[in-house]
Amino acid sequence: MSRRTPFIAGNWKMHKTAAEAEAFLQALAGRSFDGVDVAVCVPFTALWAAKRAAGAGVAVYAQTMHEAPDGAFTGEVSAAMLSEVGIDGVVLGHSERRQFFGESDKALQRKVPAALEAGLTPILCVGESEEERDRGDTERKLRTQVQEGLHDVPTARLHEVVIAYEPIWAIGTGKVATPEQAQEACAFCRALVGDRSREAGDRVRVQYGGSMKPGNAAELLALPDVDGGLIGGASLEPDDFAAIAEAAK
Ligand code: PGA
Repeated sequence: MSRRTPFIAGNWKMHKTAAEAEAFLQALAGRSFDGVDVAVCVPFTALWAAKRAAGAGVAVYAQTMHEAPDGAFTGEVSAAMLSEVGIDGVVLGHSERRQFFGESDKALQRKVPAALEAGLTPILCVGESEEERDRGDTERKLRTQVQEGLHDVPTARLHEVVIAYEPIWAIGTGKVATPEQAQEACAFCRALVGDRSREAGDRVRVQYGGSMKPGNAAELLALPDVDGGLIGGASLEPDDFAAIAEAAK
């Protein structure tokens, strides 16, 4: 199996002004995250300040983007606009965007390749609701979301996408998936990529997300198919976030 570099990404959601983002990144300065890829996913208005304040070891990601290169889409931002300000990647298809803003698998099918073409690393979020898990529909949901989201990504670039498995019932609830649940679902996402290309399946990084905290990160990050975490609440405090990145080493 290829060695995959662990990837810890903090998803700030609608938290932190530009000044607060700067203060957070200054607080991280001087820490070394050797051997771990670390990113903060920040609101649009803080991207520029975050990029300026981030040390070499911390990447800056956006939290969404539009699939079109430009056009009459009031309020939206394109991949080229993000890469112009030096942004490294973008979270796509977070369950909150799917739930509250009507983000569809069809749009994601265009967003993921558009991000790659603009030089951004996409983090494609997938995950089942509590009802879907209870009904035994977890794999069906993940299969649809992963296959649709990656449909138009050329096979040669599949491994560049990051998949975040985030069970919706674990997001912001304090209810974390068991290690068995996290391992099983992350392995399943990897296998779906492996169906397209064995090599890509081996190389693609799959994060777990949903109430990951300093206290449970090490156990989750030690799982064979969990290559990192997408962290919401616990990414808002530099010490907690750094402790999770440490646990990934
Ligand atoms: P949480 O959020 O860590 O607060 O559960 C995770 C996410 O939504 O990415």
